[in-house]
Amino acid sequence: MKAPNVFLLLLITVFSIFQSVQSQDESGETTPFISSLELRPFNNNSYVTQSGSLMLVSRVYFPPTDPTPSFIRYDEDIHDRIWAPYSDDKTMSLSTNLPVDTNNLYNVPQLAMKTALIPTNASQTLNLGWTLNDITAQSYIYMHFAEIQNLQANEIREFDITYNGGLRWFSFFRPEKLSLTTMFNPKAVSSSNGIFNFSFAMTGNSTLPPLINALEIYKVLDFLQLETDQNEVSAMMNIKNTYGLSRKISWQGDVCAPLFYRWEGLNCSYPDSDPPFVISLNLTASGLTGTITPEISKLTKLRELDLSKNDLSGEIPAFFADMKLLTFINLSGNPKLNRTVPGSLQQRIESKSLTLLL
Ligand SMILES: *[C@@H]1O[C@H](CO)[C@@H](O)[C@H](O)[C@H]1NC(C)=O
Ligand SMILES: *[C@@H]1O[C@H](CO)[C@@H](O)[C@H](O)[C@H]1NC(C)=O
Ligand SMILES: *[C@@H]1O[C@H](CO)[C@@H](O)[C@H](O)[C@H]1NC(C)=O
Ligand SMILES: *[C@@H]1O[C@H](CO)[C@@H](O)[C@H](O)[C@H]1NC(C)=O
Ligand SMILES: *[C@@H]1O[C@H](CO)[C@@H](O)[C@H](O)[C@H]1NC(C)=O
Ligand SMILES: *[C@@H]1O[C@H](CO)[C@@H](O)[C@H](O)[C@H]1NC(C)=O
Ligand SMILES: *[C@@H]1O[C@H](CO)[C@@H](O)[C@H](O)[C@H]1NC(C)=O
Ligand SMILES: *[C@@H]1O[C@H](CO)[C@@H](O)[C@H](O)[C@H]1NC(C)=O
Repeated sequence: MKAPNVFLLLLITVFSIFQSVQSQDESGETTPFISSLELRPFNNNSYVTQSGSLMLVSRVYFPPTDPTPSFIRYDEDIHDRIWAPYSDDKTMSLSTNLPVDTNNLYNVPQLAMKTALIPTNASQTLNLGWTLNDITAQSYIYMHFAEIQNLQANEIREFDITYNGGLRWFSFFRPEKLSLTTMFNPKAVSSSNGIFNFSFAMTGNSTLPPLINALEIYKVLDFLQLETDQNEVSAMMNIKNTYGLSRKISWQGDVCAPLFYRWEGLNCSYPDSDPPFVISLNLTASGLTGTITPEISKLTKLRELDLSKNDLSGEIPAFFADMKLLTFINLSGNPKLNRTVPGSLQQRIESKSLTLLL
């Protein structure tokens, strides 16, 4: 038998991340970390996006409000999704004790499928709406249905699903008896004002109001940011090691990306489709000793370099003159440094393409 294709759904122990981010806020000295990571297999054809990744906006089911319903999660949901109860004053909940066949790609938990939302007034449409803060957001919506009432021979439950004032979603839909059907949009949708307003309306032949058992809303996250250029990363690692900087500043992970976790004391440029690179390096008052390392010359797109207020010794390197984009160097406050300026560097200073502070 052929094994099913699976991809891994990453579930991060939120508590440990939260804890470590907090401790970073308090002391400024620690780095966020993950202390456990749980992976659960998932069929790779289930939540498919044309680009980027999917971020959960909402995942709800519709239980009766009495007794107070709770969240559904593992191990009622074998995929470890968390389903929140939802109700409002225009709707009511149906329930069944019979098992629902939930065996499709989504394996919606039994507990969620055994209840369903219908309009309180059976002759009105069922409306479900939400707003995405980001109006440009691309969205994927998964609706899960099963007929959970025992229909008489003359009863029909059939409805049309439209959204935002008439856009067609599905027509003449009849939920299958005690069996899960999932409806979703294969292409991402967006809404010009961020509002999504779905209407479920009985068709002319229907004798029963529309129903829905569970709903999932995702938005697309595009990770456009690439990782820092590898030559730059290795130069920065060498600079870090040369000056023993690991205990003084927290330089971990990628150098420039993500922006929020960029290494301290430097700035980067983020071209649209190329990896980011370092454009300024500021190691003022960082306790640097020894000579100026040639690793700096490997940061080929560096524009500004501040090495002031350290204890650097040796000579001012001539390679600065060859760093075409470098326009500013501050070496002041390094009393042991040999202040002789190499000829090539002197030329750049005189042609005003570079400022050197000693
Ligand atoms: C799922 O995985 C199979 C095999 O790796 C691949 O051929 C298929 O394109 C994947 N489907 C999606 C939607 O990524
Ligand atoms: C139900 O909705 C219909 C159509 O909108 C309306 O005529 C009727 O009065 C409503 N019934 C109740 C009990 O609110
Ligand atoms: C959603 O659509 C229904 C019917 O089209 C309408 O009555 C309702 O006011 C709309 N709700 C919002 C929040 O736009
Ligand atoms: C009702 O069902 C019949 C038979 O399937 C179909 O021909 C007719 O168009 C339907 N009417 C409405 C109003 O949906
Ligand atoms: C980083 O560089 C960019 C581009 O030159 C500039 O707009 C931004 O203000 C700089 N940020 C910092 C923190 O220096
Ligand atoms: C380097 O950082 C220090 C403070 O951390 C700041 O005072 C100085 O202006 C920065 N140097 C440059 C060239 O921006
Ligand atoms: C250069 O560094 C010295 C010592 O930190 C500082 O006083 C001076 O303001 C810096 N000059 C510039 C232009 O950043
Ligand atoms: C500084 O460097 C120059 C050029 O290499 C050298 O000639 C000079 O002797 C050095 N001065 C000291 C005090 O080491």
